[in-house]
Amino acid sequence: MIPRDTQKTDPAQTQQPVRDKEPVEVSDSPAEEQQDVSTRSQDGVTAAGHNVVLTDLHAYYGSVHAVRGVNITFPPNEVSAIIGPSGCGKSTMVRCINRMHEEIPGARAEGSVTLDDVDLYGDNVDVTSVRRLVGMVFQKPNPFPTMSIFENVAAGLRLTGTKGVNMRERVHRALRAVGLWEEVKNRLNEPGIGLSGGQQQRLCIARTVAVEPEVILMDEPCSALDPVATLKVEELIDELKERYTIVIVTHNMQQAARVSDTTVFMLDGELIEHAPTDQLFTRPKDERTERYVTGKFG
Ligand SMILES: Nc1ncnc2c1ncn2[C@@H]1O[C@H](COP(=O)(O)OP(=O)(O)OP(=O)(O)O)[C@@H](O)[C@H]1O
Ligand SMILES: [Mg+2]
Repeated sequence: MIPRDTQKTDPAQTQQPVRDKEPVEVSDSPAEEQQDVSTRSQDGVTAAGHNVVLTDLHAYYGSVHAVRGVNITFPPNEVSAIIGPSGCGKSTMVRCINRMHEEIPGARAEGSVTLDDVDLYGDNVDVTSVRRLVGMVFQKPNPFPTMSIFENVAAGLRLTGTKGVNMRERVHRALRAVGLWEEVKNRLNEPGIGLSGGQQQRLCIARTVAVEPEVILMDEPCSALDPVATLKVEELIDELKERYTIVIVTHNMQQAARVSDTTVFMLDGELIEHAPTDQLFTRPKDERTERYVTGKFG
């Protein structure tokens, strides 16, 4: 079960990828007592996907009850889209999956999140290893401004451990996986921020992929991108699902229809409906879902 109060550090940092941080800062009990759950998937890049199960998940910011008893399974090798009006708790729910929610002062979560058989909030589980297994891509591409393209991709790896890793090979592979290799192979030492917005977002996805997680969370990953860059990221998501469990928050219902296998509709912190995407958009069961997908509110 999730500890009742897990108050942590600087809220501003929550907008940064968690791997920006020193692992020691996010660890809240002695390392030797904690289970490094990430070691179970050193060959994770070739592994089939993994199940993420949320059971009676509640999330709070002080007295604000942002997520209200969500039960859901995100199955392996599928893209699950989360839709719903602004403020309904989409980002909060997703941030509970990799334990970023608890970084906000006063924020806490209750319930459970498991990755296959591992309780990600278990007392013995090391938070850094949770974040290695559950990668996150943010709304705004956030390459590290002082780092080269190569170093941006290597950054996550350097924080989560490079023992036995051929860095060059891993970085090149990640850049190929996100379709960026041809565009950047001759400028790997140039600054990451010199890339276009769409390229920067794929660079950030490469940074996530390089760590070889099991789950990739994306919170409105295309909202800052033009239609061409959006299409590239969507194609990439389609390829990535062969290896990963993918959860994507989107305000763009066409995007949800294009990329996802199932879609979740949330309202006021509750999960209203979860169904195959086609069904949710064309034959929703709940009248509130229907009103939202037909543009009658939100
Ligand atoms: N840091 C915070 N402190 C206090 N309340 C917060 C914080 N972040 C979010 N909330 C509140 O929690 C609720 C859910 O917010 P959340 O960001 O999860 O919504 P969302 O569905 O992702 O919205 P959007 O589509 O606008 O991104 C809202 O009522 C919001 O005001
Ligand atoms: Mg949000």
